Amino acid sequence: MKVLVATEKPFAKIAVDGIRKEIETAGFELVLLEKYTNKSQLLDAVKDADAIIIRSDVIDAEVLSVAQKLKIVVRAGAGYDNVDLDSATAHNVCVMNTPGQNSNAVAELALGMMVYAVRNFYNGTSGTELMGKKLGIHAYGNVGRNVARLAKGFGMDIYAYDAFCPQEVMKQDGIKVCSSVQELYETCNIVSLHIPATAETKNSIDYALLKNMPKGSLLVNTARKEVINEAELLKLMEERSDFKYLTDIMPARHADFIGKYAERYFSTPKKMGAQTAEANINAGIAAAQQIVGFLKDGCDKFRVNK
Ligand code: 3PG
Repeated sequence: MKVLVATEKPFAKIAVDGIRKEIETAGFELVLLEKYTNKSQLLDAVKDADAIIIRSDVIDAEVLSVAQKLKIVVRAGAGYDNVDLDSATAHNVCVMNTPGQNSNAVAELALGMMVYAVRNFYNGTSGTELMGKKLGIHAYGNVGRNVARLAKGFGMDIYAYDAFCPQEVMKQDGIKVCSSVQELYETCNIVSLHIPATAETKNSIDYALLKNMPKGSLLVNTARKEVINEAELLKLMEERSDFKYLTDIMPARHADFIGKYAERYFSTPKKMGAQTAEANINAGIAAAQQIVGFLKDGCDKFRVNK
């Protein structure tokens, strides 16, 4: 059995070594396709793969139709919006993610971005502190929970809104629960986004929502660029010189943001929330173990295309 690791943005070497150990101990063969620059390389590599480990790499209907032997795709990470689930199901391919394995890394980056923003991008001028500021966590999943844990250490006043997480779970963690997304944005000085990109959430962070944030607000996005209505965020930033936007996912209209608002807009050049050795090891090895469990024992825990 061939297990392909297809990562346009590679794992740390130590993680690849760990993945290799898991795969080869199970008697399978590991094939690496790292830093590919063209989809044709992926199409070529998947032809004889029985299993694939990916990150944000796109597995669409074309890839699935070429991968004739494919049985399982594991997205080493949380969001699986990069995989065509319907097409995978139609091709009888199991799709899994590795929930929670990279969430501390993403949460640490979110807090780092908050510090960077309130200290004026480390430009030497007087900034503000996070202590006592109202932090709104938009979606209380694995990353949101880790953000809350870290923000407590900074002495922040923590609020959250989650359409699916039971309120008791948030309350037990000492979080103030908002009953609507509007309430979260009206209340908080800083909002940290942790929603997935779905049909419902795409473009949902819009002018109507953001315009009610208090003066001197900050939006931190370590989730997905698709959830932002970029045209409306640009309009808001034009009207509100007090508003800052920091993102780990470069907007489609990055040139407009950086061209006009360089002193209160920042984007990483490449999504790096989960780009740590620890997150790569956790998510990569979990992915390898899930593949071995599926191919050997039919275990489909973490399957997302049921
Ligand atoms: C995720 O969904 O797990 C994160 O966005 C990390 O994505 P990456 O593996 O492409 O860095």
